[in-house]
Amino acid sequence: MKSIIPAAGLGTRFLPATKCSPKELLPVLNKPVIQYVVEEALEPAGVEGVVIVNSHEKPQIEAYFAEDADFESMLRERGKNDLADAVHEAGALPVSFVYQDDPKGLGHAVYCAKDEMDGDPFFVLLGDYFVPDRQMCVDMATVSAAHNNASVIAVAPVPADQVSRYGIIAGECVESLPGCDATGEDEGAVWKVTGLVEKPAPEDAPSHLFIVGRYLLSPRIMDLLATQGTGAGGEIQLTDAMERLLEEEEMYAVVVDPDKGCDTGTPAAWAATNARMALADETQVAAFKEALGKGVRLG
Ligand code: G1P
Repeated sequence: MKSIIPAAGLGTRFLPATKCSPKELLPVLNKPVIQYVVEEALEPAGVEGVVIVNSHEKPQIEAYFAEDADFESMLRERGKNDLADAVHEAGALPVSFVYQDDPKGLGHAVYCAKDEMDGDPFFVLLGDYFVPDRQMCVDMATVSAAHNNASVIAVAPVPADQVSRYGIIAGECVESLPGCDATGEDEGAVWKVTGLVEKPAPEDAPSHLFIVGRYLLSPRIMDLLATQGTGAGGEIQLTDAMERLLEEEEMYAVVVDPDKGCDTGTPAAWAATNARMALADETQVAAFKEALGKGVRLG
């Protein structure tokens, strides 16, 4: 089983930084954003590889995940074994690449990885967000296993005035933890999905549970994507193909706490994510606090 990470976007929100350096390689502390997503994608049992949907404009992503034995041995000769290990680790991750040179939407990006999936179910992880404890996809796999291996998506409540930014589900809560509220919007609640709509106007939204960007999908979705027309924004939407999948198969949604993940999709969110990760890292926190507000790092 494999996971797909779409990564062919232009990174316009980070221009000019992304003029010649992909947004996926922006660092959070000392690791590029996409490495956190790859590590999260490999966490569920049974996932053996990650397929990154890249564009030919961003060969730097492939260079990052390639082995570099010469660089590694140069670091080892200099006694920098920790750094050599970190370089080795990035090159040893089971990552492969397919290409989406024409940006036709998320559904099209996922379809570009069809031949790599071998007819198996697969995860999709959107790359502007990562979950440091890597549990979200693991929990989704548990829900899927409890429901006959159905497709499962992660959702979370969003204020009504923001529904038009996201995919929104319709459905009914079928399981919630004891003591949870009656709306079924607490973390851990499971919904049976009855409809999906991409970027609805607030008055058309069937709920205010939005698709967070983590999907565990039945292989049948690839057949549907093959014939999927354009939807919201003139793009081939994954959400629209999932809506068609509902006519044939069951689908579930698990309510997650989106704040357990870190957003890297805008300069402000990326900066906040760096601060959050520095504060959570015992090797960095003291230096980070000391450096905040100072122009020069002494010593
Ligand atoms: C995509 C999906 C949308 C989802 C969102 C999460 O939209 O199409 O359903 O809610 O990611 O970030 P995009 O952000 O690419 O417009």
